[in-house]
Amino acid sequence: MNRTAYLDAFGIKQWNRRELSFDESIEHEVNDFAEDVNTKGIVNKKNYQTEFKVSVDDIQDLNLNALAKHVSLCQTCSLHKTRKQIVFGTGHHKADWLIIGEAPGADEDRQGEPFVGRAGQLLTQMLRAIGLAREEVFIANILKCRPPNNRDPLPEEVQACSSYLHRQIELLEPKIILALGRIAAQSLLQVDTPIGKMRGRLYTLDKFNIPTIVTYHPAYLLRSPKEKRKVWEDLKFARQQAFSL
Ligand code: URA
Repeated sequence: MNRTAYLDAFGIKQWNRRELSFDESIEHEVNDFAEDVNTKGIVNKKNYQTEFKVSVDDIQDLNLNALAKHVSLCQTCSLHKTRKQIVFGTGHHKADWLIIGEAPGADEDRQGEPFVGRAGQLLTQMLRAIGLAREEVFIANILKCRPPNNRDPLPEEVQACSSYLHRQIELLEPKIILALGRIAAQSLLQVDTPIGKMRGRLYTLDKFNIPTIVTYHPAYLLRSPKEKRKVWEDLKFARQQAFSL
């Protein structure tokens, strides 16, 4: 399939004058909406409860397989009571790209793999649009267990899982990270900036010195398909960064 076909599959029409002026006209409205949404439920670092922390010493020598086994036994937060199974993450262990979402949904909880539902199918198309097959990236989430009823992760759950994600990053040593959606972006980068303002910027994940780029979550795109154009801009920006490394 050529790139035009991928863009078609992803639902992006070819650029033309009429579409650009349409996009410009809705841009303010959309940004206001995004910022409004993002002022709610921001991860509040002050609320972190230290007793939910996984001991770094316990996992610092584990390889990816051993870490996955360790996580499968995790009972650090209450999500272990409602999960069917953990969703550790899948992909190439030497991937240049690490894609980080929020948390497993019902499909992922059932299958044990990240992004296998409708949002996952769109993510696959997004990756294809920039020439990446799912198998050549690594896909993981901030949380390894599904929050019941697809509610947002709680700060203590993010805290509990953070050491696992950090160990994954340490082991994978990706060249670039793409954070999908507000919760992934804010949790990973430890900021409360609205996602509309995080897009288009090159962040560095401090502890690891890894370039990190933020875009909208594919589930949001399913609800707001007009935003696909912005995500396409973000993906091109990320690809450009990856090529320059
Ligand atoms: N949404 C996410 O953020 N992650 C998944 O794995 C699935 C849906």
